[in-house]
Amino acid sequence: MDKKPNVKSLKPTAFAGMMAARLKAVAAASDAPVPDLYDYPANRLARELHPAVQFLKVEAIDAHSPDMKTYTLAPDKAKGTTSLAWFSAGQYLVLGVNVDGKFRSRPYSISSSPAETLEGHYRLTVKRVPGGAVSGFILDTWQVGDAVTASAPMGDFTYSRLRDAKTVIGIAGGSGITPFYSFAKAIAEGDEDFELTLLYGSRTLADAVFSDEIKALAEACPKIRLVNVLSDEKRKPKGAEKGFITAELIKKYAPAEGDYSVFLCGPQAMYTFVDRELEKLALRRKFIRHELFGEYFHPERNADYPADAAGKTFRLTVRIAGKEQTVDCAADTSLLRAMEAAGITAPADCRSGKCGWCHSQLLAGEVYVPASVDGRRQADKLYGYVHPCCTFPLSDVTIDVPPVHYGQ
Ligand code: FES
Repeated sequence: MDKKPNVKSLKPTAFAGMMAARLKAVAAASDAPVPDLYDYPANRLARELHPAVQFLKVEAIDAHSPDMKTYTLAPDKAKGTTSLAWFSAGQYLVLGVNVDGKFRSRPYSISSSPAETLEGHYRLTVKRVPGGAVSGFILDTWQVGDAVTASAPMGDFTYSRLRDAKTVIGIAGGSGITPFYSFAKAIAEGDEDFELTLLYGSRTLADAVFSDEIKALAEACPKIRLVNVLSDEKRKPKGAEKGFITAELIKKYAPAEGDYSVFLCGPQAMYTFVDRELEKLALRRKFIRHELFGEYFHPERNADYPADAAGKTFRLTVRIAGKEQTVDCAADTSLLRAMEAAGITAPADCRSGKCGWCHSQLLAGEVYVPASVDGRRQADKLYGYVHPCCTFPLSDVTIDVPPVHYGQ
């Protein structure tokens, strides 16, 4: 029978030459990168689902008006994107564009269905934002055949069987209809399984983009229902409601018994109004889901804003990719917008304080973060991290910013 080696009997001198031998072997070894011998299916799938960047091109443009267009985007095979990353209905892409030589990025909800990804296209609807550098640039310059750089699909405005109720009351305003159009198509195509009652607010029926398309889906699929809620229409069309989306209206279309979720996507004014109405319904918090809040403007209007900072301009020092640059940042301008205005390419995706991609370290200075868009974890606050997209200076500030994570 073999005798087990007794470790205690080994003398330390037995190891004396080991370190030197190892260092000699390391020095003699090639420093060429280890060849990628295996392409594991799991790694391949992860790369396909979460590409660092997607190179796309404009395949078609549908103009709803000069201020709102839907772009069909296909893979740009010549640049290396051979297929599109799958997504869940409700997600968005971040488009990166160069406007006057400065890199800008903006999130846009996908209005096509996940199944259409397999047919080789995404659809994004862009609405002009007054004074918006990116929406104006896209609407005024993009032509069929133009190259587009996009992120992988992102965002958590998606349906989850574990969290959400079987019935969803969708509340849409303006271009906030786009994720709901995707949800409706995904339900009709069998990729999502829930009942969607969509309360779609607009001034008039003519303003309600995709209303006809969603109505056609609703006629073919009993799980989908569309109710136009029109604030300025003189005469109420059949099946529509007049006025605003109030607690009474939500109750009217919600199930008489049992839970329901409320998904909201629209302008900030709509969130402010509808959130107050939702308080009256006392729904459980998990049943209320908001799409991105959007960029934050006018922090000085908040009751907790330090009044003495209003109207001032501070110096923002940015450390990024081994360089340091100092730029002006007005008190009502987010650190992200100040960087972009100065031509600094900083990481940003949701621009709403939610995704954490812009997560940066505050090295010096005082800042203000509006509570409603403060998506930081407790540890971030403790260790001095901020989301520059929703952070405003109260003094001269220095931040350390990670380099951008996808191509320009
Ligand atoms: S860009 Fe998403 S948190 Fe700032």
